[in-house]
Amino acid sequence: MTQHYRITLLPGDGIGPEIMAVAVDVLKAVGKQLDISFEFLEALMGGAAIDETGEPLPEATLELCRSSDAVLLAAIGGYAWDSLPRHQRPETGLLGLRSGLGLFANLRPARILPQLVDASSLKREVVEGVDIMVVRELTGGVYFGQPKGVFATETGEQRGVNTMAYTEAEIDRIGKVAFETAQKRRYGRPDGSPLLCSVDKANVLEVSQLWRDRITKLAEEYPDVELSHLYVDNAAMQLVRAPKQFDTIVTGNLFGDILSDAAAMLTGSIGMLPSASIGSSRPGVFEPVHGSAPNIAGQDLANPLAQVLSAAMMLRYGLDQPEAAERIEQAVLQVLDQGDRTGDIISPGMRQLGCRGMGEAVVQALG
Ligand SMILES: NC(=O)c1ccc[n+]([C@@H]2O[C@H](COP(=O)([O-])OP(=O)(O)OC[C@H]3O[C@@H](n4cnc5c(N)ncnc54)[C@H](O)[C@@H]3O)[C@@H](O)[C@H]2O)c1
Repeated sequence: MTQHYRITLLPGDGIGPEIMAVAVDVLKAVGKQLDISFEFLEALMGGAAIDETGEPLPEATLELCRSSDAVLLAAIGGYAWDSLPRHQRPETGLLGLRSGLGLFANLRPARILPQLVDASSLKREVVEGVDIMVVRELTGGVYFGQPKGVFATETGEQRGVNTMAYTEAEIDRIGKVAFETAQKRRYGRPDGSPLLCSVDKANVLEVSQLWRDRITKLAEEYPDVELSHLYVDNAAMQLVRAPKQFDTIVTGNLFGDILSDAAAMLTGSIGMLPSASIGSSRPGVFEPVHGSAPNIAGQDLANPLAQVLSAAMMLRYGLDQPEAAERIEQAVLQVLDQGDRTGDIISPGMRQLGCRGMGEAVVQALG
């Protein structure tokens, strides 16, 4: 029976439309193979939306997203809009999208592809085989806790305040996503049990003590997942010392912000990194980690693979289609094995392709 999905596409700005076109071709190709049909609906977001409507996230775009099964976003922003007031900046649209869709979990994989191991700034023997997923809580913690602000003290001195706070319910829902993500990552790799490492600062922070208690309690519902705990300072150290020990990591908003960037940079290639933001129900938003790269826009130079891998994440984590996700990921590995590269990841002896050429190579590799 054909599975049918409505996908909202937000190509955005800069290289966004070029890399989105590639991802759509790849989705159509895998859909044909597995009897999955996609209805693609395109909407305005970011600078393109500001130019047309004055707002980075028009209500019509949010409505369309809400009515779809998943949202595939490319990248937004660019020099033309960088100096606008905050409420009109493209990034404000991103925050609006997250809160408008109730996206509280951010999934950031960092996988060292064997073909690109030398792009890492760490030694080959340290990073070879690294395959980590950081699950970061996105809508709570110190970025949103009350009270917050800069207040005058009794002596008239200014005092800046932020509050790190999590409720049981907030911890449980991100914990659930993390345990399930750890399980989903075993698809096609039945070797060993799923691993989850929860990162906190429970030796100092009460909010972290509650975090650790709840995650430990939640583990009873996932007996197949091996749970461990680390303090954040140790986790940061271990990520650069021995990153292969990690599989899935779950942590709060602030720690996750820092650790997900550190983990991503183990790979050394920004054009290869996908991400997902999900809530308790569909739709999730799937997008590359990189920005709109205005310096290379419109020149057929962009690497579309982060966008293609974001489409694979959409299939695995947003639509429960692991087979389709796996096929896309394998096709990406195959084109890299063939020696196909875009300019940002080129090395001696490899064949340089443009954005479109790389897309065609992936579609061909799907068979
Ligand atoms: N989520 C988002 O949409 C997002 C994230 C970061 C930055 N931005 C916006 O993007 C614009 C540019 O920001 P930036 O230059 O700091 O970051 P960037 O990620 O756009 O670019 C950084 C560098 O990486 C290169 N690069 C990025 N993606 C690439 C790809 N797919 N293929 C080849 N090379 C690639 C660029 O050419 C540039 O040299 C800004 O307006 C910024 O606000 C948007």
